[in-house]
Parts: sequence; C-alpha cells; structure tokens
Amino acid sequence: MRIDIITIFPDYFAPLELSLIGRARASGLLDIRLHDLRSWTHDRHNTVDDTPYGGGPGMVMKPEPWGEALDTVTAGADAVPRLVLPTPSGVPFTQQRADRLAGEPWLVFACGRYEGIDSRVAADAAQRMPVEELSIGDYVLAGGESATLVMVETITRLLPGVLGNAESAVQDSFASGSMARLVEGPVYTKPPVWRGLEVPPVLLSGNHGAVDRWRRDQALRRTARNRPDLLRDTPDGEFDRRDREVLTEVRGQSGTEPVAD
Ligand code: ADE
Repeated sequence: MRIDIITIFPDYFAPLELSLIGRARASGLLDIRLHDLRSWTHDRHNTVDDTPYGGGPGMVMKPEPWGEALDTVTAGADAVPRLVLPTPSGVPFTQQRADRLAGEPWLVFACGRYEGIDSRVAADAAQRMPVEELSIGDYVLAGGESATLVMVETITRLLPGVLGNAESAVQDSFASGSMARLVEGPVYTKPPVWRGLEVPPVLLSGNHGAVDRWRRDQALRRTARNRPDLLRDTPDGEFDRRDREVLTEVRGQSGTEPVAD
C-alpha cells in the first residue's frame, strides 16, 4: 500500500519509523511518503493560511498550496488515490471503515490545521478522486496530524504481513465479522500469582471450551459496563442463554468498573 501524507509538520510523523509500521516500510510492504505543504508556497513567509471570509475567529488554510500539493503528489501515476481529510466534522472513522480503507492500494492524507482547509480544495479534488472527510472522535484536536497517525496505524496493521500474528487482528475488540460487537475482556500472562493477585484458574485449566466461554462472559460484562451502546445495537438473536444470564447479572450490579473482573 502507498500512503502520502501532506502536512506542515512532517516531523510529527517520526513514530511511523518505529515498530510494526517501521518494519513494514523497511520490508517494502508499505510505501509512506511525507510532504511538507510549505514546499508549495511561493511567498517569502511560506504562508499557508489567511483570514476567513465572512469573519470569525482563527485562520483558514489557503487553497493554492493544497491544490498544487495534491496535483503534484497524485501526478504521473496510473492509479487514482483515495483522499482522506481528517476533520472533526467528518464521518466517524470506525474499524469497519479501516477494514475498507485497508483494501485500497493508495491513500493520501491531507492534514488541516487552524480552522480547516478552504472547502474548494475538497470540491476540486473530488472531480478527480474519491474524497472522504473522517473524524476520529467527538473532540477537537489542534490539527489533522494526530488523527492521521491514528488512522494510518489502524489501517496498516490490517495489511497482510504487517502484524506478527495475523489472528490477533481478527480477535480484536470491534473486529468486523464477529457477531455481536463486544470489547475484549481482560488478559493475563505469567507469573500465575503476582502481588497476591491470581490469574483466573480457568485460564490455566487447559479446557478450551471453558476458556472460550469465560472469555465471552468477561467480554459481555465489560461491554455492558463500558459500552452499553454496543449491546443495544446487537439483535437479540445473537445472544445465547448464558449470554443473557451474564447480561442480567451485570445489569443488576452497580455501574462502577472494579479493578479486576
Ligand atoms: N482534526 C481536529 N479534530 C479532529 C478529529 N476529531 N478527527 C479528525 N481530525 C481532526
């Protein structure tokens, strides 16, 4: 997969040299290219922003550098990329959307700062390529850079060969394809007793059926406590009798999450 990132802060993306993504880049699985928006300015001060038409606080990113940047980055290739514009006004970025974007051969991220990018940039780009405005959550960041990092990490770990263990992406909280969307329950490793706290004995039992059931119970409990909205969206037919017992039990308890389940 090729990913181009256009930003006024290319240094912000140093983490993309580390860990799984760094390794995927080194091995050629992932081609990430960073571009400094200011290299498409032509004035002495490398200006990328200006005051908003209609008045109001803050500054808006000028269309000309963005237009030139997108023309240059997307030129000379046979393929057409998908343009992602991170913005708090966008469609929610979800695991499902990440799965879909992971199937694309080429993504371009345009990181806005200030009050955003002049709207004509998206309108102009949309004449030549698909454009998605995406929000990573209901809060306002100082710019699209950290949102881009979140999206790039979420998308690229789904690519074949990027994650060490292909199974772990399938088992994640929110992994698509699971029936009910549940968050994951607690996990443990050695030693079996640490600071007087024991690993739940069922996990040491070797009884795979019992382990699977226990994990589902824990996932249901944690989802009911932390993300009741996910359970409300799940059709009743997707819960078996034991699921319903667990949900009834947790709903009868007080709303605070204990340290250990
Ligand atoms: N830019 C600022 N806030 C954002 C958010 N929540 N998601 C995506 N991009 C953003």
